[in-house]
Amino acid sequence: MTEDRKERQRDMYRAPDPAEGPLTTDQGVAVDHTDDSLTVGERGPTLMEDFHFREKLTHFDHERIPERVVHARGAGAYGYFEPYESCAEFTRAAFLQDPSVRTPVFVRFSTVQGPRGSADTVRDVRGFATKFYTSEGNYDLVGNNMPVFFIQDGIKFPDFVHALKPEPQNDIPTGASAHDTLWDFVSLQPETMHMMMWLMSDRAIPRSYRMMQGFGVHTFRFVDAQGRGTFVKFHWKPKLGVHSLVWDEAQECQGRDPDFNRRDLWEAIEAGQYPEYELGVQLIPEEDEFNFDVDLLDATKIIPEEQVPVRPIGHMVLNRNPDNFFAETEQVAFHTANVVPGIDFTNDPLLQARNFSYLDTQLIRLGGPNFSQLPVNQPVTPARTNQRDGYHQSMIHKGTNYSPNSLGGGCPALAGADGYAFSHYAERVEGHKIRKRSESFKDFYSQAALFWNSMSDWERRHIVDAFRFELGKVGAVHVRERTVEQLARVDYDLASQVAQGIGVALPEPGANNHKPQASPALSLDNLQGDGS
Ligand code: HEM
Repeated sequence: MTEDRKERQRDMYRAPDPAEGPLTTDQGVAVDHTDDSLTVGERGPTLMEDFHFREKLTHFDHERIPERVVHARGAGAYGYFEPYESCAEFTRAAFLQDPSVRTPVFVRFSTVQGPRGSADTVRDVRGFATKFYTSEGNYDLVGNNMPVFFIQDGIKFPDFVHALKPEPQNDIPTGASAHDTLWDFVSLQPETMHMMMWLMSDRAIPRSYRMMQGFGVHTFRFVDAQGRGTFVKFHWKPKLGVHSLVWDEAQECQGRDPDFNRRDLWEAIEAGQYPEYELGVQLIPEEDEFNFDVDLLDATKIIPEEQVPVRPIGHMVLNRNPDNFFAETEQVAFHTANVVPGIDFTNDPLLQARNFSYLDTQLIRLGGPNFSQLPVNQPVTPARTNQRDGYHQSMIHKGTNYSPNSLGGGCPALAGADGYAFSHYAERVEGHKIRKRSESFKDFYSQAALFWNSMSDWERRHIVDAFRFELGKVGAVHVRERTVEQLARVDYDLASQVAQGIGVALPEPGANNHKPQASPALSLDNLQGDGS
C-alpha cells in the first residue's frame, strides 16, 4: 500500500469545486443573491420564507463543536511511515513487516492545558499523536513529547486536569502552568515529581514540532505470529534534533506570534522541508518483567536507555498539510484502544483508563457514534460492522444486522483463525478486587533525581528559573513551602536554590535527600544537532 490510498479516499470526500458552478443552497438550488435578505419593501421586516437566509444563519449558528477537554490546540499533517526491516521477530503487525510498504499517517501535535485559541509557546507538555492507516485497520500511537506522565492511575486524571486548568471562579490564568491549584495538587501527590522536573525543563518549550521527541509513555506489548508477547516502549526521534526555545524567547513568541509552532510546521511542509522522525522501540522480554528497579506498569518511570537501548525500526515523513483544519485536524479522533493485530496493552492503570476515556469523550465531542466515518478517521480498509443508525450516519447499509444470523444479507462472516483478526493477548491474571496502589509504584523521587543529575549546568539553571517563576506566582505560602519540601526529596541543592528565589524557608537537610547516579542519556546536550 502506498500513502496514495488515503489520498484517494480523501478525494472521494472533497467538496465540489467552487469554480465549476454557481453558489447553491444545501439542497443544491442555485442562488443569485446572497447579500440582502428577503424583506417586505426596502425597509420592512425579513420574511420567514427566505430559506436561503434561514439556512445560512442556522448553519453559522451551529458551526462550533466542543473543543477537546485537554489538548484543545493543535496542528496536523499527513505523511507516511516506512519500517527499516521486518519486525516479525517481535510483532505480527502488518505495517511493521515490509520496508517496501508505506503506511499513510495523520499526526496531530498539540499543547495540553490551554484552550483552542491559546498561544503555542507556553510551558506545557506537547501531544504527539499518530494515526497509522494500516492494511489491518487504524493503529493510533497517542503519545506526548515527554516519556513519563504526572499520575500513575487514571482515576486521578480528572483531579489532575481540574488542578491544571484555570481556577474555577474566574478562569484565570490561562497559558503557563503557574497557579495555586496545580502546585497544591502536585505537592500533595508526589508521584507527579518526576514529570514536574520535565515540565520545568526546556523540553516544555519546544522550538518546533519538527524538533520534538515523542513517547508512547506506557509499556505496551508486541505480539508475534505465535502469540508470544514482548514489552515495548515507543520513542519518536526528530531527524532535526531536539531543540527548545529559551524562556524569554518563548514569552516573546507568545506576544509576537501565538501560532509560532503551528505556522512553523505548516510553512516547512509547504516549502517541501518535510519533518521526519525515526521510530524506535525499547524491547523487554516478558521474562524480564521484574528485573528492573521500577515497575513497567508505572507511567511515571522511564526504563533508562543504558539498561534497554532504543532500537530504530522505521521512519515517518510528514509531507502534506490538511486541506481543512476543522474537517481534519479538529475532527480527528485518536484512541489508545485503536490497536491492530500484533500490538496490545499492558495492565498499566493509566493506560487502562485511557482505553475508556477517548471513545467516551469523542462520543460527545464529535456528536454521536459515527465519527469513525469522517474522512480523517476512516480506515483505508473497509469497516464492516453490525453497528447501525445514530446521528450523522453516512453509510447506506443493506440487510440484517445481527449475529448469529441464518437469514443472510447483513451480517459479515467472522474472520477465520488465520492470524488476520485481532485476538487479545492471553495474559493470565488473578487476584482479589482491591483499591490499593502497588508497593512497586511507590518510589516517587529517584527518577526525578536521576533527571536532575543528568542535566548540564545551563539546563539546571533553566529548571531553577522555571520553578522560581512558576512557584513565584503561587499565592498560598504553605503550597510554596510544601513544594520546596518535595523538591528537597529530589535534590537538596535544587530545593535550596528554588527556596531562595521564592522567599520560603528550606526544610532541614535529612535522610530524604536523594542523590542517585547521573544518566547522561536524558540531557538535551546529547540530543541537539543531528538528533543522534
Ligand atoms: C487527548 C484523556 C493521559 C496524550 C485526550 C483527550 C482526553 C484524554 C479525554 C481528548 C480526546 C478528544 O477529545 O479527542 C486522557 C486520560 C488520561 C490521559 C483519561 C489518563 C488517564 C494521557 C497520556 C498521554 C496523552 C499519558 C500521552 C502518552 C494525549 C494526546 C491527546 C490527548 C496526544 C490529543 C490527541 C489529539 O491530538 O487529538 N486525552 N489522557 N494522554 N491525550 Fe490524553
